[in-house]
Amino acid sequence: MDTTNQKVLIIGAAGQIGIELALSLSAMYGSQNIIISDLKPIPSLPENPFEKLDILDKNALFDIIKKHQIKQVYLLAALLSATGEQNPAFAWKLNMDGLFNVLDLAKEKHINKVYWPSSIAVFGPTTPRINTPQHTIMEPSTVYGISKQAGEGWCNWYFNKHGVDVRSLRYPGLIGWKSAPGGGTTDYAVHIFYEALKNSKYECFLSENTTLPMMHMEDAIRATLELMHAPAEKIKTRTSYNLSGLSFSPKEIAAEIKKHIPDFQITYKPDFRQPIADSWPASIEDSTARTEWGWKEHYDLNLLVENMLKNLTNLVSK
Ligand code: NAD
Ligand code: SER
Repeated sequence: MDTTNQKVLIIGAAGQIGIELALSLSAMYGSQNIIISDLKPIPSLPENPFEKLDILDKNALFDIIKKHQIKQVYLLAALLSATGEQNPAFAWKLNMDGLFNVLDLAKEKHINKVYWPSSIAVFGPTTPRINTPQHTIMEPSTVYGISKQAGEGWCNWYFNKHGVDVRSLRYPGLIGWKSAPGGGTTDYAVHIFYEALKNSKYECFLSENTTLPMMHMEDAIRATLELMHAPAEKIKTRTSYNLSGLSFSPKEIAAEIKKHIPDFQITYKPDFRQPIADSWPASIEDSTARTEWGWKEHYDLNLLVENMLKNLTNLVSK
């Protein structure tokens, strides 16, 4: 894909994924072509043009798209699983209306291409937990999962009825060192590194054997960019793609961290996030993504832990 003069808008760019995505897109397109937007300023991305935007304000979104002649939108603004359960009505409003605002502008041909992430949260307690297939029972138990499942259906509908080029991945829990997570059930797998380096101990809000699908942020960003730059005819799945990296439990990641920090101790105090985690898959089968556009992960648990500790050591002060 030709990246010359392609202006891209990231909505929700101050978040865990947004910051890393902005850095990678800027390296491809040039910082001036990646417009970053959020409710709050983003001091860590000083080179990109910033627009304060509430995605629920469709007129403001339209103005920004016109002003910068935006061609592609990455819509990341959402409430995640844990915060969504605390504020279900607002989670539904933000997660659905934000998506409609973007899809409608794409339908009206103001933008050419949309990226919108889904999640493993589309699955629920009745879904097969091991190697969860692309097509299976989907009865999500969180408002977040319900909104993602509905969003997938709408993406598919806008593609089929209006030819909107919208692409999506069902991200697992994402783990990176450049940005902090914001209100998810898988966030423990980032917090654990900070606490291990700072205090050599961590109290985990999930129980020791809660295995969940996870992925290093570098893999997730690469998957996103590969999907968005693949020829349209290869993207046959317009709901969202299963995407797999690795799977582990708190006990397993703690054991891996202990290899580097021998006095590290983990304790467990499951809270309201435990039933959310229990309703999700333990591992994901993603052969559709591998076959249709060539997905392959890089990080396993060993490499992920090594990379996180190496990069966070200088950032986290004891
Ligand atoms: P995050 O909470 O870290 O970031 C979301 C950003 O959206 C925040 O900076 C927030 O200020 C902004 N925002 C909130 N309301 C807004 C509004 N009304 N208008 C504009 N911006 C607003 O989330 P994230 O982890 O970066 O996730 C981004 C997307 O990826 C979400 O759709 C999420 O569901 C999905 N996802 C994330 C993960 C993960 O592990 N991080 C996994 C699966 C799916
Ligand atoms: N990491 C996300 C969450 O826990 C999964 O979508 O909410």
